[in-house]
Amino acid sequence: MMVHFKSLLFLASFDLAIAAPQHEANVFHTEPRASRLDWNAPRGHGGFLSKRSGLHTEEYFNNPPVRRSPASPASPLTEPSLSTRATSGQWENLEGSAMWHPAPVSWGGSRMDVYYTGKDKTCKHKSRDGGSKWGGWEDMGGSLDSAPAVCSRKKDNMHVFCKGTDGQAWHRSYDTGSGGWGKWQSMGGDVKHYPSTCSWGKDHVSVYVSSGDGQCWHRKYDEAKGGWYGWENMGGYLDGPPKTVTWGQNHSSVFCKGEDGQAWHKKYESAWGEWESLGGSLDGEPAACAWNGRMDVFVKGTDGACWHKTYKQKTGWGGWENMGGKMKTGKAPEVVAYGGKMEVYITGDDNAVYRRVCENDKWTPDWEYMGGNVDTKPSAVAWDNGKVDVYGTGPDGSCRRCY
Ligand SMILES: *[C@@H]1O[C@H](CO)[C@@H](O)[C@H](O)[C@H]1NC(C)=O
Repeated sequence: MMVHFKSLLFLASFDLAIAAPQHEANVFHTEPRASRLDWNAPRGHGGFLSKRSGLHTEEYFNNPPVRRSPASPASPLTEPSLSTRATSGQWENLEGSAMWHPAPVSWGGSRMDVYYTGKDKTCKHKSRDGGSKWGGWEDMGGSLDSAPAVCSRKKDNMHVFCKGTDGQAWHRSYDTGSGGWGKWQSMGGDVKHYPSTCSWGKDHVSVYVSSGDGQCWHRKYDEAKGGWYGWENMGGYLDGPPKTVTWGQNHSSVFCKGEDGQAWHKKYESAWGEWESLGGSLDGEPAACAWNGRMDVFVKGTDGACWHKTYKQKTGWGGWENMGGKMKTGKAPEVVAYGGKMEVYITGDDNAVYRRVCENDKWTPDWEYMGGNVDTKPSAVAWDNGKVDVYGTGPDGSCRRCY
């Protein structure tokens, strides 16, 4: 590993420009449609693990060149016209003017917070507690070039991450004990997609990004050990954002779509394992959840159906299971686990949300129509001991909640 980094530093000292990844000619072959492809047959790993030129060094990633600060003042929200909005049944229109999907979080009990990136590139935030109504949209400023990602370590605490318009990762945290919101902080790095974050306990946060050169990078926060660690290179060759999950203290896993179109996974349990191919033929980023030493990963296949695979600590990974469904192009599935149950949500090609629920390893027989009109992937959150809310962005940019 040291030899590897030395040679990278050597290359970097001559040419800091980021070279385009060197694809092998066979990387661009037409993928057979997943309906005819045996998802569970072993496949080669394409270029996922191969060495590439133009990689960032850890030094570069931790001290990137200073570009523009995203701390620019917020501009007012332009509200879309009310007449274009649909609200019906169990859907609530929270209004707003979003790009990309919203990011909901609950720090426990009946508290709910939701974030989105406005069309003015600032971060917007709204919260509710108990039986109370939603507050208004709060403008949190920043200059975002991705949807936000958010997690909570404990009650009265939240961490919001994003890709800034300067290409770096940015972070803002809320903690009632330290006076509420801190300032936006640059975390450095060279970020391509929106980040993914999780917390395995009251002292811990992890954030993962895919960098401009396709690799996965990671930063960890440990309150008991003084705060943030530097960026750690996780390698790989990602085509899309990473997705991280934890089943509790001392475990994180990260999933992604590799540049070879397969699902990939890397697990931390006191030390990092190697990247492992999970096979499949993905259209877009995976969704995943974890509890009790179990993980489930859900993806949109290149055939438009939702596919699913389970990991159990005793038996390892099972095979891919085709869950059917007609998913909207480019929209990843979403999953939330709570109380031994899983709920999977997809956005259909009709912009409605559909759900399947799993309890004791038994799935509801078919996709349940939830209605709505969203053109992003669904974002689900479990809260208030067993309630699940799903959020999405409507075609007019409004934030919509299904409960
Ligand atoms: C997690 O790791 C720490 C440090 O090694 C250890 O003290 C702790 O007991 C572990 N917790 C669990 C739940 O395994």
